[in-house]
Amino acid sequence: MASNNILGLIGICVVAVLVTCDRDDTPEISLRKQVQTLQAALQSHIHQQDTKIAHLEKRIQGLEAENHELKHQNTLHKRRQQKRVSGLGEANYSVGFSAFLSKTTALGEHQIIVFDNATTNDGNGYDTRHGHFTAPIPGLYAFSATAMCYGSEAHLHVAIIKEGQKIAYIFANGNHYDNGSEFVVVQLQAGQMVWVEHTNDVTGVKINGDAYSTFSGFLIKPY
Ligand SMILES: *[C@@H]1O[C@H](CO)[C@@H](O)[C@H](O)[C@H]1NC(C)=O
Ligand SMILES: *[C@@H]1O[C@H](CO)[C@@H](O)[C@H](O)[C@H]1NC(C)=O
Ligand SMILES: *[C@@H]1O[C@H](CO)[C@@H](O)[C@H](O)[C@H]1NC(C)=O
Repeated sequence: MASNNILGLIGICVVAVLVTCDRDDTPEISLRKQVQTLQAALQSHIHQQDTKIAHLEKRIQGLEAENHELKHQNTLHKRRQQKRVSGLGEANYSVGFSAFLSKTTALGEHQIIVFDNATTNDGNGYDTRHGHFTAPIPGLYAFSATAMCYGSEAHLHVAIIKEGQKIAYIFANGNHYDNGSEFVVVQLQAGQMVWVEHTNDVTGVKINGDAYSTFSGFLIKPY
């Protein structure tokens, strides 16, 4: 490429010298004319090369931008694939649990109710030891809780809690066997928690076990 250019340039110069030779000129004038023609030829050549370089620079910039975009797409694609491999793929990831309280429990003040037996726990969102559901991925979720009261002095007040905020109250009359339930739909970020908690300041209110009191939830749609 470079040697071709140089050969071309020499060609242009030789032609320029031949064309500008005039028999009537003195050697000095002839030489000056030749130098001027050579200068003009060189300038035109340099200008052409500059134009080419500018053009190439533009193309390189374009290719660099294209390359950058492709790399970005590739990273996104890889991330999506990794998610799929690890089971976090949006299309093939299920989150859903159903847990029940196995033993009738006398509740303490603001005690979290631990539904200790999970019959379903796809995605392992529900913790049967501490009673929290933790969203494994961001999305729209649904939860339902039912509490049955054993018939104690005080009424049973519990609530479905999202990140410390009460979003649904459940009541059951303590004077006789009673039950209450709620169903909620909530938006959760990954790592946010939902649980069921006794909301009264009193202690000793009983909540029924043997699967009469349950907590369930599932992912409606990932974000
Ligand atoms: C979905 O996930 C299950 C459990 O990990 C797996 O057995 C199944 O092959 C997956 N299906 C698709 C279509 O990826
Ligand atoms: C959960 O309940 C089922 C059905 O009653 C029972 O078979 C299972 O042993 C229980 N699991 C635990 C860990 O208590
Ligand atoms: C729930 O409470 C209602 C109203 O007291 C009662 O009719 C129903 O039988 C109760 N259900 C259960 C499973 O205890």
